Amino acid sequence: MTVQSPAPDLAGAPDAGFAPDARSAPNDLAPYWMPFSANRAFKADPRLFVAADGMYYTTADGRQVLDAMAGLWCVNAGHNQPRIVRAIQDQAARMDYVSSFQMSHPAAFVLAERIANLAPAGLDRVFFTNSGSEAVDTALKIARAYHKVRGDANRVKLIGRAKAYHGMGFGGLSVAGIPRHRRDFGPLLGDVDHLPHTHDLAHNAFSRGQPAWGAHLADELENIVQIHDASTIAAVIVEPVTGSGGVLPPPVGYLERLREICTRHGILLIFDEVITGFGRLGAPFASNALGVTPDMITCAKGMTNGAVPMGGVIASTAVYDAFMTGPEAAVELMHGYTYSGHPLACAAGLATIETYEQEGLFDRGPEICAAWEEAVHQLKGAPQVRDIRNIGLLAAIELESRDGAPGARAGETVNRCFDDGVLVRVAGDNLVLSPPLIITPDQMGQVVDTIRTALGEVA
Ligand SMILES: Cc1ncc(COP(=O)(O)O)c(C=O)c1O
Repeated sequence: MTVQSPAPDLAGAPDAGFAPDARSAPNDLAPYWMPFSANRAFKADPRLFVAADGMYYTTADGRQVLDAMAGLWCVNAGHNQPRIVRAIQDQAARMDYVSSFQMSHPAAFVLAERIANLAPAGLDRVFFTNSGSEAVDTALKIARAYHKVRGDANRVKLIGRAKAYHGMGFGGLSVAGIPRHRRDFGPLLGDVDHLPHTHDLAHNAFSRGQPAWGAHLADELENIVQIHDASTIAAVIVEPVTGSGGVLPPPVGYLERLREICTRHGILLIFDEVITGFGRLGAPFASNALGVTPDMITCAKGMTNGAVPMGGVIASTAVYDAFMTGPEAAVELMHGYTYSGHPLACAAGLATIETYEQEGLFDRGPEICAAWEEAVHQLKGAPQVRDIRNIGLLAAIELESRDGAPGARAGETVNRCFDDGVLVRVAGDNLVLSPPLIITPDQMGQVVDTIRTALGEVA
């Protein structure tokens, strides 16, 4: 469906009052309370970016930096893709906003259909949010409400996993498993339990792709079910590949076992694909790539190539249909956000999927992922490297922890890499890599060489 109306002529329109270019620098850094940042250290030595194109950022001092993080696991097609830029500009000029409560606009429906077509068969109802955190909280609420609407109101418990990251809402934080993230925020949701993580270097060090050892760790779900009783459990949520917890690919057979146990006990299975969605594993979703279909997928990030905030829950028809039972005039799910299905986000989302398909980014999977695996495993034997893990276009290089200062060595290494022109992420003692899917073999080489040099310089 294409719905067009003439865009206004913007010639002569006043500008926004601030046109950042390579020379612009704010005078006062104090007012902005930066998220997930060491505010004082940053403001003493700011790292500002002013432009981006393809694989590269331009810094305020005019340097080109290769983006080996795809922004923050989101710019999967590379920066400033012309089709996406154009779609956002056109939509902004045509209709800025419309509510999604009891009204909508055509692109929201077209985008939902396109996403449903990419997701595994049976997952074809899309609820829009503005972020991954909102997507996770939405999925957890849908899970509880699903059981309630079916007359199973006792099923309220939510099962997460150690080392998981599910965003920063109270729901996501409650099922997440990174202790430092949870520590400062008082009591989280009750009625939550956690599976063990799957990280075990004694068995899995230097695995390529999915490790062979560890499927049995999914059986811990059976123990949790025995403790709580299946009739009290609403859902299990896992990242198919643990991301922020250090890039942990699932052991062979692990997700299959979780699926089987959930199905047997009537528990909904949610895959948090905020990182793995939209091509990161060389297929539209990890669920497609790994051949395991959950009841809901949460997604965000690559959904709009990072260009406009957007997230979503892709639910099975069975989950959706369970809600479509009461009076037709009644609201079926008392949940939503002012900006759910925002016109700019939908325009960006449609252009993003178009870009992934036109550029063949879902089809390049096997070839590019194999090249990536070869490249990152060349770092085996580099100083301080105790493990290398990879799957799709994700990788972690785990370093020996410095005595008394966990994470310090990895932090210093990524700073060196930045100075040498490559942006790498740090997660604990891990160097984490998730480059745009357009990365070339030469650029993979640059990433690996830069890390090797940095590791040689950091004690
Ligand atoms: C697996 C996962 N879930 C949820 C989120 C939260 O997404 P957002 O930061 O868009 O709220 C993230 C963010 O990195 C994530 O990695």
